[in-house]
Amino acid sequence: MIRILFVCLGNICRSPTAEGIVRARLHAAGLAEAVALDSCGTGRWHVGESPDPRAQEEARARGIDIASLCARQLRIDDFHAFDYLLAMDADNLAHMRRMAPADCQAHLGLLLDFAGPPGRSVPDPYYGPGDGFANVFALIEQAADGLIETCRQRLEVQRSEPGDGAR
Ligand code: 4NP
Repeated sequence: MIRILFVCLGNICRSPTAEGIVRARLHAAGLAEAVALDSCGTGRWHVGESPDPRAQEEARARGIDIASLCARQLRIDDFHAFDYLLAMDADNLAHMRRMAPADCQAHLGLLLDFAGPPGRSVPDPYYGPGDGFANVFALIEQAADGLIETCRQRLEVQRSEPGDGAR
């Protein structure tokens, strides 16, 4: 089993979109049972809310339903409960690194490092121009296949080394 947490600021735009896209791709790849997903925000302003209607609409137009997701805030036990904590941007990655307990074994990184040149962020679409949500969707789609390929390889390692939680 691999556990992945997507992290943005509010958990109403980018990280629920990432959760929805990657969940759909995992289903298509036959890996839905082997990889657990969740998302959260480093901020607490939107806790308990559904994804932003603009994010829901962008996903729905592409056949992905994220309406049932509910925003929550990043918490300390996430650093032990997940194998990968993937930030949407550099600010949220820095926040995660400051918050991580010393004995954290999880991979902390940027989602877009699974596609193209390292260090890229998914821009915050909340206050931005109208096409921000389409851009978010396209960027996350780019990273999804690379992330799933990493999962596939790691699951093979886990299968060949039973009982060893090799990272
Ligand atoms: P997210 O977008 O981090 O992708 O969910 C945002 C949502 C809300 C706010 C900022 C970014 N806000 O400032 O309320």
